[in-house]
Amino acid sequence: MTQTDIAQPGPSVRRAVCPGSFDPVTHGHIDIIARTSKLFEEVVVAVGVNKSKSRGGLFSPEERMAMLEKVCADLPNVRIASFEGLLTTFCQEHGIQAIVKGLRAVSDFDYELQMAQMNSSLVDVETVFIPTSPEFSFVASSLIKEVAAFGGDVTGLLPADVLVQLTERLAERARQQ
Ligand code: PNS
Repeated sequence: MTQTDIAQPGPSVRRAVCPGSFDPVTHGHIDIIARTSKLFEEVVVAVGVNKSKSRGGLFSPEERMAMLEKVCADLPNVRIASFEGLLTTFCQEHGIQAIVKGLRAVSDFDYELQMAQMNSSLVDVETVFIPTSPEFSFVASSLIKEVAAFGGDVTGLLPADVLVQLTERLAERARQQ
């Protein structure tokens, strides 16, 4: 096969979703979103909303979306949304062909593989795994919140504005206890 035998891509738009809790968004998330935006024509960053109070996050879905809007403002093919219920239903409703997940370590893979296989058994959707950049391989929103709550320095792991909001929210929560 010569180079000229390779067909041009078809007219259909390749749309991917980067789903997550984003409670709050970290530099690890931004790394994956930015790299996904180079691979797909359109990217939807979708905040998963869990209505159960016990699983409610530190930030409301609206706050998480506002943070994402800000940090993704320079990525023109990225838009922010939220979803409730099954991710596969969201994919069907929005013509999404691929779910993109970042893999930090092999330990992420077991569960992610199971979810990918479950999702593709439900609807016609592929999961694409992107290895997290090494400098973010230990970065997780849950760990950042824990470290920050105990006064640890998490500067550099998340955008400066988000860090300010996190510090304020943790202080509010501490006052309420
Ligand atoms: O950032 P997280 O917490 O790892 O994100 C998890 C999320 C929201 C992507 C995942 O829990 C999810 O897809 N939830 C939607 C519910 C669903 O479709 N469950 C079946 C998964 S096979």
